[in-house]
Amino acid sequence: TRPLKVALLGCGVVGSEVARIMTTQADDLAARIGAPVELAGVAVRRPDKVREGIDPALVTTDATALVKRGDIDVVVEVIGGIEPARTLITTAFEHGASVVSANKALLAEDGTTLYAAAERHGQDLYFEAAVAGAIPLVRPLRESLAGDSVNRVLGIVNGTTNFILDRMDTLGSGYSEALDEATALGYAEADPTADVEGFDAAAKAAILAGIAFHTRVGLDDVHREGITEITTADLASAQRMGCTVKLLAICERAADGRSVTARVHPAMIPLGHPLASVREAYNAVFVEAAAAGQLMFYGPGAGGAPTASAVLGDLVAVCRNKVAGAVGPGESAYTQLPVSPMGEV
Ligand code: HSE
Repeated sequence: TRPLKVALLGCGVVGSEVARIMTTQADDLAARIGAPVELAGVAVRRPDKVREGIDPALVTTDATALVKRGDIDVVVEVIGGIEPARTLITTAFEHGASVVSANKALLAEDGTTLYAAAERHGQDLYFEAAVAGAIPLVRPLRESLAGDSVNRVLGIVNGTTNFILDRMDTLGSGYSEALDEATALGYAEADPTADVEGFDAAAKAAILAGIAFHTRVGLDDVHREGITEITTADLASAQRMGCTVKLLAICERAADGRSVTARVHPAMIPLGHPLASVREAYNAVFVEAAAAGQLMFYGPGAGGAPTASAVLGDLVAVCRNKVAGAVGPGESAYTQLPVSPMGEV
């Protein structure tokens, strides 16, 4: 069988793990897909920083030329940010490639354009890695729960802030010391403001609310407060009240089903609640659906290897579709519901 060619855009914390697993697990991946998968190019900004183990002949600084090559089956975008990621993804579709992306900011801001471009060119757009790292959440919402009616999605969706709050709570660490540690461990965004100010969680809330409630929610529709005002003393006084503080993303559909709300803010959580025991950079998300009842998704929410796991899962799915000459679920029919940031609770 003809090998499937993969272009990797970005080779940082996540991208380098994707490349490593593609190489070390090549035989297993080929068996699961039904065709070999070949890393055909790696686009980076700084070629001198590419990790060992990646064939230097594959490395390029010209991402545009790579996605325009014409022989690429799947583009894996792990550079993040709006541009050039958006143009590269739409160019990839135009040149016959499906896309796996971990880009929550872009999907939250402009998922619509990307879905439309994928559909126009008969390609897949998969983005499990955009929300909650290794935890399967996007595909369960888009596929497993597609026959149910989801009313609420609530939980911890940012690993960096959870790590910081956990360190402040359990070790009494200072805020910036804990942030430095989260950055060193590869949890934080390139600009950690996105984490601590709640932009990253708000982007994830917008994505989750859109797919859970079959509507569209923009980043600006999400009420957002970060954790920058929280001090070690606040955590200590929460503890005295039998609580801890967590940054929550809360997406709800109104009881009459006619509007939705999405918000991100720190919240006091009683120590007996399952969310209180989510430590370090783990994430946990509750999904409430009419028939299913309450589901809990829990696991590593940030970091190179966990996020790479989600990317690889998508890569296998998209490659299987290529082998079968099929496409997976696109944006399902949606009704634009009014979005109010807070709503009634
Ligand atoms: N910076 C993000 C986080 C990475 O801390 O959750 C995973 O999306």
